[in-house]
Amino acid sequence: MTNKPSLTSTWQSPSNLAIVKYWGKKALQEPVNPSVSFSLSEAKTTTTVGLVPRQDGGFSFRLDELPVPKFEKKIETFFNAIRARLPIIENHFIEIESTNTFPHSTGIASSASAMSALALCLADLQQQVNGKNDLDITEVSSLARIGSGSASRSVYGNWNLWGRMAELPESSDFHAIPAPVDIAPVFRDLHDDILIVSSQSKPVSSSHGHKLMDLHPYREGRISQARRNTLELLKHLSSGNFEGFAKIAESEALSLHGLMMSSTPAFTLLRPNTLAIIEKIREFRDNKDIPVTFTMDAGPNIHLLYPKEFLNEVSEWEENSLKPFCEDGRILRDHIGKGPEKIISTK
Ligand code: DP6
Repeated sequence: MTNKPSLTSTWQSPSNLAIVKYWGKKALQEPVNPSVSFSLSEAKTTTTVGLVPRQDGGFSFRLDELPVPKFEKKIETFFNAIRARLPIIENHFIEIESTNTFPHSTGIASSASAMSALALCLADLQQQVNGKNDLDITEVSSLARIGSGSASRSVYGNWNLWGRMAELPESSDFHAIPAPVDIAPVFRDLHDDILIVSSQSKPVSSSHGHKLMDLHPYREGRISQARRNTLELLKHLSSGNFEGFAKIAESEALSLHGLMMSSTPAFTLLRPNTLAIIEKIREFRDNKDIPVTFTMDAGPNIHLLYPKEFLNEVSEWEENSLKPFCEDGRILRDHIGKGPEKIISTK
């Protein structure tokens, strides 16, 4: 910290991976459809926020010790939207320092981990200034959502749901909740190997993709599909039905990219090797009878999902058959994680 802050807070918060995808928003970053995700274990952002008393506010942001103008804009928009809820923003200069555990330029979305870590630090500091030390995690999820929709789901570990469903009384468009079912053992330690097909930055941002859903010809159909898939997925997560889970994971991933390809203007983020890997996964599952499936985010990379007990078989197959389709043979290994952690400085 360069400005000798009067108070600091440090949090480490994970990225998350959606199985039912958030795609399309309304009002202040409320989703048009529910989404279900799990938090990762290895892909995390660590953020320290320092408060420097100063009447005219302001902030600085550094990622790995360097300024990133693109994120500064996003943080400014975020601060303007949450100002009324967090008075510390008005009367302090906010110094933000972040690092990511996952390497740069691997096509891994960082906004969920970054915005959830920032929301945790800010909420924690506001509580400290108020003389309290408990955090209302629902409120933090709601703050994180305003920074980036998917970040609302990163304030918890394991499986989470964001978006209102009449059938699920605790669900909300304003914040995420832990998935309201008991999770079967097979889904408690799911592995996610991220097969890096391309690390180039996306030609179309997620924010723009969300916007194209406003007038999308398949909008209503998509909303119904996501609602149906959410209820089905929760059933499979609790009964341990991997086959049912895989059907939804793949249908959601391909539907997301189908929506992009049928937007106006249309765009495609898939690469030839994305499709080659999908073929390989299906072939392996059919021939070996090993439960593997996949999903994708808004990018060309494949997330290969499987239960922990198949780690050895899957790793060997990845090395031999999938690595050649990955950029520089890159595979990042991750699995379900326990959620954010407050880091207490020992200095
Ligand atoms: C495809 O949360 O990155 O990963 O709210 O504009 O910050 P903003 O978008 P973002 O969108 C994520 C979209 C997705 C699906 C998902 O995570 O549910």
